[in-house]
Formats: sequence, C-alpha cells, structure tokens
Amino acid sequence: MTTYGSFYLLYAANQLLLAVAVTLVAVWMCGFGGGPSWQSDPAREFRWHPLAMSLGMFFCNGEAILIYRGLRNVPKPKTKLMHAGLQFCAIIINVFGLKAAWDSHDLNKDKDGNLKPIPNLMSLHSWIGISTVVLFCLQFLFGFITYLKPGLPMQYRALFMPGHRLGGIALFVMALGSALMGISERSAWKMTCWTKEGYFCGEMLITNIFGVFLVAYAVTTLALVAYPDWIRKEPEALVRIPKSEETEALREE
Ligand code: HEM
Repeated sequence: MTTYGSFYLLYAANQLLLAVAVTLVAVWMCGFGGGPSWQSDPAREFRWHPLAMSLGMFFCNGEAILIYRGLRNVPKPKTKLMHAGLQFCAIIINVFGLKAAWDSHDLNKDKDGNLKPIPNLMSLHSWIGISTVVLFCLQFLFGFITYLKPGLPMQYRALFMPGHRLGGIALFVMALGSALMGISERSAWKMTCWTKEGYFCGEMLITNIFGVFLVAYAVTTLALVAYPDWIRKEPEALVRIPKSEETEALREE
C-alpha cells in the first residue's frame, strides 16, 4: 500500500513555491514602471502580459495538472470538471495576456507621441510562446471532446490518455521555456542597470528570484505528476469489470 506522506510534503512545498512565484511577478509588474495600465499607455499595458501569462500557464494550468493528485479522494467527475474549468480559465487569461503584449507593440509611440508600431512575432520567445498557446488550445479541445463530452467509448478514452498526459506535460515545459525567455528578454531590453550602468538593481533581483521560483515550482510539479506511485487509483468498488483496457481507463483517466 502506498503512503502519501512524502507526496503531501512535496505538494505543500510546490504550492508554496507557486504562491511565492505569483507574488513576485505581481510585485515586479505592479511595483515598478508605474504598474499596469491599458491602451492609453501601451508600455504600461505590457505589464499585464507577464502577470497574466504566469497566472494562466502556471497558476491555473499547474493547479489543473495536479488536481487529480492533490484531491485524490474527491470523486472523479468533480475533479474532471475542475481540471477542465481551470484549463478554460487559463485560456481566457492567456488571451488577455497576449492582447496586452500585442497592444504594447501595435500602439507603441515614439518620444514625440507619434504612433511607431513594433513588429510582432519576431523573437524566439514569441515563436515558442504563441506555439505553446495554440497547442494548449488544441489540447483543451481534444481533451474536452475525449473526456468531458459524453459518448466516446471507454477504450478510446484509455487509448488517448498517455498522449493527453504527455501533451500536457510537454506544454507545461514549453510554457516554462517561454516564460524564462520572456524574463531574459525583458531584463535585457528594459533594465539598463546591468546592461548600461553596470550594477545589480532591485528590479533585477526580483526578476531573477521570480525565475528561480518558477523553475523550482515547475520541477516539483513535474515530479508530483510523473512519480508512478502517486498516480491516482480509483477505489476498488469503481473498478467494475476486470477487463484490462477498461480497468486501466478507470485508473488512468
Ligand atoms: C508562458 C508564458 C508566456 C507566453 C506563452 C508568452 C507569449 C508571448 C508572445 C506570443 C509574445 C508576442 C507578442 C507580439 O509579438 O506582439 C510575447 C511578447 C513578449 N513577452 Fe511573453 N509570454 C509568456 C510569458 C512572458 C513572461 C513571464 C515575460 C517576462 C517579462 C514575457 C515577456 C515578453 C516580452 C518582453 C515580449 C515583447 C517582445 C517580444 O515580442 O518577444 N513573456 N510573449
């Protein structure tokens, strides 16, 4: 029989890392440069972007990924709905975050106040980032049709489960890569303390610590989700037919 002591210890650490990471990005975006604004000030509108992408890709998506492990005693239909609901929130928040980045390019003004748009989708960050968001939406759509919409026979649900899992993990890793590139890009473009003046400023400290916490959070999330002993097992009573495919589907889904 598996004991979950070490699981809950790591899970608590993971949730703490997430809380600190989200707090740090909020402090970074709200505490410097006048905080976030909207289209009247596109440079400050940008400040929604890192905040929203972190909330969507790490808070909502990360919590959704871990929900079957964290709430292992809550009935499956409820956790399934929470999983899908959190992923849906992630999509909405991501769209908002992308709009903020896009506007900050399209509505950019020169120092005389004339419109001087910055071209979109030039950086590696933006290429990997947009691919992550598009694939994330496709993963959601496929997951919705397969596991939430009634009608698909159990053996197909079981068949697609390893792919659904692998896809989710790959997208989480891609989101981490995108965020780290975004952090570096922002530091390189906007924080002249280290590039021009040659010292380490407070904003850099917060930015770097945010990146470190994001990596630590992502690593613990991947450990929690990948360790085989911690995979949720359905109560015996629910495993109705000892037919290999169906049993596997109930356990895995
Ligand atoms: C996983 C989360 C993220 C995704 C999916 C993502 C995606 C994107 C995309 C698609 C763009 C292009 C917008 C355009 O071309 O108009 C962009 C721009 C940008 N993002 Fe992110 N982003 C993420 C997180 C972050 C974070 C945490 C930062 C940190 C500050 C950041 C900094 C930037 C910067 C500086 C730009 C403007 C320059 C550029 O186009 O590369 N991003 N992001």
